[in-house]
Amino acid sequence: MGRHFSVGAETISILDGLDLSLERAERVAIMGASGCGKTTLLHLIAGMDQPSQGSIHLAGTDLGQLAEPALTRMRARRIGLIFQDFNLIDSLTVAENITLPLWLNRLPQPTEFLNELSDTLAIQPLLDRMPTTLSGGEKQRVAIARALIHRPCLILADEPTGSLDEATATRVMDLFDQAIKRSEATLLMVTHNREAAGLCERRLMLRNGSLQPAE
Ligand SMILES: Nc1ncnc2c1ncn2[C@@H]1O[C@H](COP(=O)(O)OP(=O)(O)OP(=O)(O)O)[C@@H](O)[C@H]1O
Ligand SMILES: [Mg+2]
Repeated sequence: MGRHFSVGAETISILDGLDLSLERAERVAIMGASGCGKTTLLHLIAGMDQPSQGSIHLAGTDLGQLAEPALTRMRARRIGLIFQDFNLIDSLTVAENITLPLWLNRLPQPTEFLNELSDTLAIQPLLDRMPTTLSGGEKQRVAIARALIHRPCLILADEPTGSLDEATATRVMDLFDQAIKRSEATLLMVTHNREAAGLCERRLMLRNGSLQPAE
């Protein structure tokens, strides 16, 4: 797989020849220098971006063969994506942001799970607030709740503990573990946190477009 970007007269090629398979209920950490393509890789796997060469298969479906709105439906149902810059919707309250995947999937609102996530992430008092009034770490915790609320089978997390203190980061890793145990979710996580990476069965280093086992 590869992704090429045109910037003026220049072409930037990243992830050339990259090959990655993920198993169900597996935890995989990806590390690598800034700019090596980690975020681009997650966006490609989520079907939010298309590879310039190669293909991406999710649960047996080639994402490149899916037209809209099927692609959006597939993403909404199966994927929980925690963006590096959170991507909360400013015009919706915190609670509305978190439950958005349920609305998109026409799923019932499971109050119990929302309460459980809000308690664990200590965002219960923030549910009626607007995202612009939150701190970075608060936004990150809301983004994590939104990525888990619909029990996706693939959790793509872009430095999900980057703005969090150690105790909260541990609680987030526990939530991921629960999702893996309860619904056999797969976790693909970009992280620079050695402790979080240490909780994953596979640790990979992205360098020059290829993934190598990290020590
Ligand atoms: N839309 C775009 N147009 C042009 N270049 C892009 C675009 N998106 C990403 N890039 C380039 O691709 C490279 C990889 O970017 P990416 O965001 O995937 O890196 P990253 O590994 O996530 O970095 P960081 O650790 O800083 O978040 C960078 O050099 C970036 O400038
Ligand atoms: Mg990034």
